[in-house]
Amino acid sequence: MRKLLQRVGVSVALAVTVSDVFVSVMPVQGTSMQPTLNPDAHKPVPTPRDWVLVNKTVQRFSSVQRGDVVVMKSPTDPKGRMVKRVLGKEFDVVRPRAVGAHLVTLRAGHMWVEGDNADRTIDSNSFGPVSESMVQGRVECVVWPPSRWGRVRSQQLDSQRLVYANNRKKTKKSDRNN
Ligand SMILES: *[C@@H]1O[C@H](CO)[C@@H](O)[C@H](O)[C@H]1NC(C)=O
Repeated sequence: MRKLLQRVGVSVALAVTVSDVFVSVMPVQGTSMQPTLNPDAHKPVPTPRDWVLVNKTVQRFSSVQRGDVVVMKSPTDPKGRMVKRVLGKEFDVVRPRAVGAHLVTLRAGHMWVEGDNADRTIDSNSFGPVSESMVQGRVECVVWPPSRWGRVRSQQLDSQRLVYANNRKKTKKSDRNN
């Protein structure tokens, strides 16, 4: 019996460690991603805020795609993090939301992120492009509350906003130096 308990203990410890490396679950703050996340936060009787499953392997093994919802470090608050959708990646050209704004060409290793709720978001339209290294993971699904359970989809992007999508392979550092 004692051996069995020990074994169970070890597997639980392993499972926790593994899940911490590959995925994590966190609550979403605020209303900037409405209607995708926290859709009812403004109602008189708000539903509990959404908890999402975050895929942390994207940051290590593959890169994030345009249209994905990501969790990233906040560029304005060193301790904070934020959830936003990726509009453009390095070498893409994006049109900021402000009417008449100049087009922005994203530098190597940078991306443009926005909240889905244009009226309620502080994003690249205010703080500009952000480094890809700020990304902590991709939001895969809402896991809580149960009524909100479901995948968080990558979204087709407006070609008026993503003016040019650079689909060339990333240049290797060694190529750049030649
Ligand atoms: C995390 O992302 C990777 C790479 O896109 C994918 O292969 C994997 O299935 C994802 N994991 C989860 C739990 O969604």
